[in-house]
Amino acid sequence: MNVLVAGGAGYIGAHTVKALAEEGFEVCVLDNFSTGRRDFIRGHRIVPGDLMDKADVEAVFAGNTFGAVFHFASLIQVGESTRDPARYYVQNLVSSLNLIGAAVDFGVEHVIFSSSAAVYGVPHETPIAENHPIAPANPYGRTKAVVENILADYGRAYGLKSLSLRYFNAAGADPSGEMGESHDPETHLIPNILLSVLGRVPRLEVFGTDFPTPDGTAVRDYIHVTDLARAHVEGLKALMAGYPGGAVNLGTNRGYSVLEIIRKAESVTGSVIPYFAVPRRPGDVPVLLASRDKAESELGWIPRHSDIENILETAWNWHRKNV
Ligand code: UFG
Repeated sequence: MNVLVAGGAGYIGAHTVKALAEEGFEVCVLDNFSTGRRDFIRGHRIVPGDLMDKADVEAVFAGNTFGAVFHFASLIQVGESTRDPARYYVQNLVSSLNLIGAAVDFGVEHVIFSSSAAVYGVPHETPIAENHPIAPANPYGRTKAVVENILADYGRAYGLKSLSLRYFNAAGADPSGEMGESHDPETHLIPNILLSVLGRVPRLEVFGTDFPTPDGTAVRDYIHVTDLARAHVEGLKALMAGYPGGAVNLGTNRGYSVLEIIRKAESVTGSVIPYFAVPRRPGDVPVLLASRDKAESELGWIPRHSDIENILETAWNWHRKNV
C-alpha cells in the first residue's frame, strides 16, 4: 500500500517512515524542509512541497493513489504559540485543512494525526485517560484539539476514518544512530541535557523546583520515538481492519522528574551535569502521566523501548555523533 507521510522528514515523522517501510508500506514523504532533514529519509520517495499551498497538496494527491495519510507537519513550540498565536492558528489549521481536505476529495480512507497530551491542559486526574476533559492551556494545544474535531466531523459527514495519537513526551533516537531529536531552537529537556554535556548550550536550566512533586521538579511521561513510530503502523493496521478510530494516548504511565532525568543522564554519559534552578516556565504543569490502557486494549500497542535508560542511551548515541 502507498502511504503519504506529511512532515515525514521531522523527528517523529522520519522514525515512522522507517517503521512503515520495514512493514512493507510504500512511503511518499511530503515536506517543506522548514525543520525536517533530508538525511533522515534517505532512500525514500520525497516530494518537496508546502501544505499551506493547496495546489501543491492537490498535485501530490492527483499524481498518486494513497491508502492512508499520516500528518506530522506542525509548528510545535508551546511558548512560541502563546507569543504568536496567529502564526500557530494559521499554519497548523490551514495546512491541516488542505491536507485532510485533499484526502477526502481524493478518496483516501485513513488519516493518522499527530496530536498531543497538550489537548488536556492542566490534568484533573492522573494518569490521564482519553475521556479526560479537553481543555488545552495554550494555542499550540488548541490547534491540536481543533484538528481532532475536524477529523471527527469529516468522519461523520464524509466517512473518513482517522486516528489522533496524543503523544506524551517523545524522546530517544533510532537505535541505528542515523536519526535523532534535533530542533532549532531546542526547548526539550533531554536534548538540552545532552547538549549541555557536549558544551553546546551554555547552561542547563531547571524550570521550577517548587512543584508539588517529591523533589519539587516537574514529572513527565517519556516515550521512546521507536515506540511512537510503531504505534502509527499498528494504528493504521487497526483502521484497515475496521477499528473505528478516535483519539488514543501514547505514553508509558511511568513518570520521571527533571532531576531524576538529569541523574540518569549523568550515569549514561559518565559526566557530572551542573544545572541552575530557575523559575517555572509559564504553562508547565506539575505532572503529566498517560493512561495507556486504551492503546493496549484497542491497538494492541505496548511500549517496548521506553525504559528511561534506553531512551537516554539512544539519545546520547545520536547526540554525541551528530550534534
Ligand atoms: N525543562 C527544563 N529545562 C529545559 C527544558 C525543559 O527544566 O531546558 C523541563 C520543563 O519545564 C518540563 C520538563 O522539563 O517540566 C519537560 O519539558 P519538555 O520541554 O521536554 O516537554 P514538555 O512536557 O514541556 O512538552 C511536551 C511536548 C509538547 C507538549 C507537552 C504537553 O514537547 O509538544 O509535552 O503534552 F505540548
